[in-house]
Amino acid sequence: MLGKGNSQNGQELLDLNEKGVSIPKKEEKKKPASSETFTHVLLIFLACVLLGLFLKIFIFNKNIEKNKTFQKFKTADDMNRNVGDIIVRYVNQHPKARIGLVSGSTPQGLYKYLINKYERGEVSFKDVKFYSIDGYCGLKKEDKNSYYHALNEGFLSKIDAQEQNFFLIKEEGNTILDFLKNAEDYNELLKKNPIDLQILSFGENGHIGFNEPYSDFDSLTQVVKLSEEKRREKLPAFGSFDNTPEYAITQGIKNILQSKEVIVIAKGKEKAKAINELVNGFFSKGSPLTALKNHNGKVSVYTDEAAGSLVKEFQKKF
Ligand code: GLP
Repeated sequence: MLGKGNSQNGQELLDLNEKGVSIPKKEEKKKPASSETFTHVLLIFLACVLLGLFLKIFIFNKNIEKNKTFQKFKTADDMNRNVGDIIVRYVNQHPKARIGLVSGSTPQGLYKYLINKYERGEVSFKDVKFYSIDGYCGLKKEDKNSYYHALNEGFLSKIDAQEQNFFLIKEEGNTILDFLKNAEDYNELLKKNPIDLQILSFGENGHIGFNEPYSDFDSLTQVVKLSEEKRREKLPAFGSFDNTPEYAITQGIKNILQSKEVIVIAKGKEKAKAINELVNGFFSKGSPLTALKNHNGKVSVYTDEAAGSLVKEFQKKF
């Protein structure tokens, strides 16, 4: 039987043979120093690669990708109910939030749902501050075509929102200087009071507010001259071409990117292309909506089946 001898004071270890006589231990082949250094370098390199992968997957991706989500619902009513519940929860948690509203047909179902929630006593908007994304130039608040009127009639006057908390874009004024002043004032206001949650819809070509494709993506709130085409589009509401406003005022894309969180809503197949470009495409000046890809905070996109038809998945991070 072979046993191990003792090692004392650096003396060489001895093995014992069957008769108990110690024999010198076979000398272990020493690895050359260069091969050990190589192994160490390799291990450090592998550790760095693993650390890099960990940071990319769990830290980097978490901040960038997890903050942008898409979710499609069967119908616009389903979408409104779900988005409405999210907003109710948000307001209950942040009763003094600054919320940005949007006009147009898309949010009307959502506003009705929120009014209903308020009437049932499930939410109060009494301390919420309301902002808006765009408006016409030269219309009084009470003008039935003003965006103020639309937001007030369609939503604000039906809940417990207080007029002192209305910070909607000013549409009044007679001259271009008045309109420019309104834009400047709004930028100052937004600078001091960034919007917490912006509800956003958009046009078929991806326009947001009155920011059309290929407009300046670095813009702040500004006055824009409406194209003849745009004025003809609005003509039915104003009765004649001459009555349509020549100018509109809109938050700039930069303002919109500065709001802390954005909820995008879309319904109908006309919006499918712009939604697909946002969710699956690349940032492009041809669609202002894709600017949201550069938003640093949370962007949640909700659609009905038709508006989300070009996106295969029902839920997706992007
Ligand atoms: C207009 C408004 C936008 C609005 C867009 C979409 O261009 N200026 O603020 O988002 O229309 O409107 P709708 O929801 O009716 O499609």
